[in-house]
Amino acid sequence: MHIEVVVLAAGKGTRMHSDIPKVLHPLAGKPMLTHVLDAARALSPQKLHLVTGFQSDLVKQHYANSSFVNTLNWVEQSQQLGTGHAVMQAAPAIDDGAMVLVLYGDVPLIKPKTLSALLTKAAQSGFAVLTLVTDKPAGLGRMIRNKNQQIIAIVEEKDANREQLAINEVNTGIMAFKADLLKTWLGQLNTNNAQGEYYLTDTVAIAYSQGIEVCNTQTLDNNEVQGVNDRLQLTELERSYQLGRSRELAKSGVTIADTARLDIRGDLQTGRDISLDINIIFEGTNKIGNRVTIGPNVVLINCEIGDDCEIHANSHLENVVVQNKCTVGPFARLRPGTLLKTGAKIGNFVETKKAIVGTGSKINHLSYVGDAELGAQVNIGAGTITCNYDGVNKFKTTIKDGVFVGSNTALVAPVTLGVNATIGAGSVITTDVPDQDLAVARSKQKNISGWKRPVKIKTE
Ligand code: UD1
Ligand code: CA
Repeated sequence: MHIEVVVLAAGKGTRMHSDIPKVLHPLAGKPMLTHVLDAARALSPQKLHLVTGFQSDLVKQHYANSSFVNTLNWVEQSQQLGTGHAVMQAAPAIDDGAMVLVLYGDVPLIKPKTLSALLTKAAQSGFAVLTLVTDKPAGLGRMIRNKNQQIIAIVEEKDANREQLAINEVNTGIMAFKADLLKTWLGQLNTNNAQGEYYLTDTVAIAYSQGIEVCNTQTLDNNEVQGVNDRLQLTELERSYQLGRSRELAKSGVTIADTARLDIRGDLQTGRDISLDINIIFEGTNKIGNRVTIGPNVVLINCEIGDDCEIHANSHLENVVVQNKCTVGPFARLRPGTLLKTGAKIGNFVETKKAIVGTGSKINHLSYVGDAELGAQVNIGAGTITCNYDGVNKFKTTIKDGVFVGSNTALVAPVTLGVNATIGAGSVITTDVPDQDLAVARSKQKNISGWKRPVKIKTE
């Protein structure tokens, strides 16, 4: 099938009360429009037309460096005169032999499977509408059927009479047409309706009057066809989407403390016997191994966590690889480029950045380790800082196997601590320490015997 998708995204989205276009507002960490474009692309369409108008420059800018940049045919609708008018703007670029699928940029959760079924149905007569039976039809176009159950029209809420308002089968807005029929019908639309707009939905009555059967498929999943008009709807859709994902995850074998307190914004791959406490956020692409326990209030962004790891409460990890049997947190911040090798341990109030922490090495308390490479079995004492930045350039700290760094040490990079070196507490290390040596770089202690403390001076 030669498929062309038209995505409508020119509307103003007034009810969002926002300075950015509605379709760029994120759902599950990604703009609503990107969800729709991803679903469209999954159908391998010949062309993907995107109709924008309100703040179209911001939408263009957003996709300029994306994988969609060479896929999209940008269509400008400078005045928003209705859904029918929006499709008219794309029509000249559509091949006559195509099957045209119309999607809305503000209906983000539509699934490719549902769209394929609709396209198959549309191939029968040349026209099919995706409908939904709902107990909350308010605001949506109602499907009008005759006594033979044939679809004869769609009536918008604002144009509907009381009897029509009681109908609970609604138009999701998603439709598929043979291009030649669509083009003919677009030419026959008018603006004789409550909103003075060219309604795409009027193609239904036109098709019926011309003896073309209007087919339909249904979806039972409200979320999938839920449009977002304001931020409350966005929040509610986000919540119900997240609940769906965490329930799926629980069914797949992950222990979840509370399915209502887990957010997955992107792709998550999970092993067996994982346990997730409350308020965990997964962003981007994350991969979690077997027997991993994650405590409350943890944020993981693009991380890979190996088997048998524990991530304790309130830790934040971004672009980090954690190998097997590691412990992190509570209150750890692992920044991009951190690699924890097997059995490494990061304790509370530790920040790392671009740091390789070798097998079995420990940074247990209150430290900053950046631009550093630690060998195996290293022990970093509390309050150790790698001074990696001179205000202009960054330098590397190299710590070889078995090094012991005493507490409150400043390691002024570039510097190398040799194998099994020991650093005395409170040192400021500015030059390399050879293998096995003890380095102490602090002022010597002086004891003054018989020292008399000052006494309080009496005033009148
Ligand atoms: C539309 C349908 C309604 C359906 C509902 C489902 C029409 C006339 N009505 O109503 O039957 O139940 O969707 O959500 O089609 N857009 C443009 N240019 C325009 C107008 C709209 O690109 O000139 C885009 C909007 O950005 C949006 C989509 O089309 O993505 C739908 O427009 P909207 O105004 O939200 O239509 P509804 O009133 O919700
Ligand atoms: Ca809408």
